Parts: sequence; C-alpha cells; structure tokens
Amino acid sequence: MSDAHESHSTELVAADEPIANPGLPEHTWRPTDVDPAKERRAEIQVSVLFMLSAVCTVLFCVSYFVFDIKDNWSTVGGLGASTVALGLSLAGALLFVGIGIIQWARKLMGDHEIVEMRHSAGSNESERASALADLATGIEETGIARRPLVRNTLLGSLALLGVPMILGLRDLGPLPGDKLYHTIWGEGTDEHPMRIVRDGIWTPILASDLEVGDLVNCQPDALMNPERYGIDPSEVEGTNAQIVKSKASLILHRMNPADIKPGVDAEGNSRANWDVNGIVAYSKICTHVGCPISLNERTTHHLLCPCHQSTFDLSDSGKVVFGPAGRPLPQLPITVDDEGYLVAQRDFDEPVGPSFWERDYYER
Ligand code: FES
Repeated sequence: MSDAHESHSTELVAADEPIANPGLPEHTWRPTDVDPAKERRAEIQVSVLFMLSAVCTVLFCVSYFVFDIKDNWSTVGGLGASTVALGLSLAGALLFVGIGIIQWARKLMGDHEIVEMRHSAGSNESERASALADLATGIEETGIARRPLVRNTLLGSLALLGVPMILGLRDLGPLPGDKLYHTIWGEGTDEHPMRIVRDGIWTPILASDLEVGDLVNCQPDALMNPERYGIDPSEVEGTNAQIVKSKASLILHRMNPADIKPGVDAEGNSRANWDVNGIVAYSKICTHVGCPISLNERTTHHLLCPCHQSTFDLSDSGKVVFGPAGRPLPQLPITVDDEGYLVAQRDFDEPVGPSFWERDYYER
C-alpha cells in the first residue's frame, strides 16, 4: 500500500470517530466585571434609559388628554397631532425600556457559560435508513424521474401560480385620492338645482308633501338624469352607479322646527339654514362600519343603526348618543327650488360612511 493511500485511510477512520468534547472556552471578563467604576457607569446608563422610558410614558398620558383625537385639523407632517404625539411617545417608551433591558443584560447581569446536557433528538440509524428507503420508494412510484414531461409541466404550472398572487397586489392601488371626501350631491346648475328624489320611484319631493314624523329614503335626481346637472353619464353607469348611489343615499326626516338645535358647519358657521321648515337631510350610511340606517324614533328624533345599535340624534346635527359610531351622521344642507321641490344646497361638507385614516372631523 502506498504512503498516500495509507494516510487517506487514517483520515477516514478519524472522521468516523466521535468528535471530542472541546469543553468551554475560557471565560472572558467584561470591563464591568472587573472595574467597579465602569460597572457603576453602566448601572447609571441603564437607569437613565429606564427613566427616559418613564418620561415618554408620562408624555403619552399627557398627550392623550392634551390633544383631541378628533381634531385632525392640527397636523404634523400631514398626520393628526394627536396621532403623532401618542405614536412618538409610546414608541419612545417602548424603545428606551427595550434598550435599557438589553444593556442591563449585556453589561451587568451574570454572563457565566452554562452547559446543559441534552439527549440526542435524532432518530437511530435503522429508523433513518427505513425512512429514506420509504421516501425513495415513494419518489420512484410517482415516476417523476422517468416522466420529464409531467415533471416539467408540473413545475411550470406551480411557478405560474405565484403570478395571480402578485397581480392581486395591483388591486391595492391606486389610492382613492379625494373620492372618499365627495359624493355626487351638489348644487346642480343655475337652471336645475339638484333635486332630492324618492329612492326606487325617483319622484321629486315637495317640501309640503312631508308631515312631521315622516322619514323618507332618498337619492339625488342626478343618478337618473346626470346631464341635467352637468354630470358625465359615464359616472353613473355600470358598477359606478352602485358606488355612487350607495355613497349618496339620504334620509329626509321632518320634525317640529323648534326641536332642531342647529350646530355649526366645518367653517364654524351656523347650520340654521340647513333645514326646510323642520325637514332635515342626513346620510343614510352609518359612520361606524357603513350599514344603511332607517330605524327612527319619532318622538326623540333618534335614528338607530340595526347593525350595532349606534344611535344618532337628527335634531342635534346627527350627534352620536349611543353605540360604537365614532362621529356624527353627516348632514346635507337643503333648500327648495322655485317650484317648492326639495334640493341640495351643495355636497356634504365631510366624508360619508365609516371613518378612515386621517378623515376630517369637527365638533358641531
Ligand atoms: S354599522 Fe352602524 S352601528 Fe355598526
């Protein structure tokens, strides 16, 4: 046997033998273990981090009361001041306490190496051989190695399955822009103020038709006659029609004019001229999660959402008097045209339907 062959055999034998336990490396003492001054400095550093966390937590609590979460007119970098203050202070509190704990563990806690003996988690030789044999038999029986056509078409089809998932991401955009802020309601044209019509039968409504206590589901006439109001018909065709209609859904309610407590609009102006002889108009879409609302308590002028019982006061700017809705029901300012039919003065001055990130809000 040659020398080279002999040495190769020796290496193979050595490789088969268990690797000797190398033992623990020599312990390395940290500066804080051997220098009391550095230990003290680290202790102060960790305490300062914990104190900073506490300060941020206090700031969070203060911000909670100082900034009105509904006040999205004051913004910082486009975000509500309340959102920014609460977010930054909470982030600081968590960050500082996290860094403090890490520094505490790194510099001050005991760091002695500990050996924990464990049983081997692996299967024994014969179980592994048996599992591999079963796997090989299974693969052989699929015939995947002998049938390249099946194998390749399978791989191709599986690879393509990822494409629909990537295409689906496209539907996350584009951003809605100002669409969430507007409905088709508007003042109409000089010749044709935008009439309010009964939902389903599309007849205009004379103010004198409604009696105290009446509640009527309505839509804008522009859905049926867009050109009359200078609106492109394609805006109310096909699936667009459903979207536009659902956003524009309206309820009219007539009450004694003396029961109305006029609030203010987004500019702080009175809503005293938003009703017609006690007839008020509100969005029919609940501001909680968007159910259509029509359950009316005649005597209290409360409107109840059947989904989660949010209750809105139609005599008081649609304010929430009960339930999970976070903001009042948007009110549509209305008036009458030359013939006495009810018409919109303009669009809603706030988004209808459920709340969304950074939507406008103002106190009535
Ligand atoms: S959708 Fe109206 S209360 Fe929830």
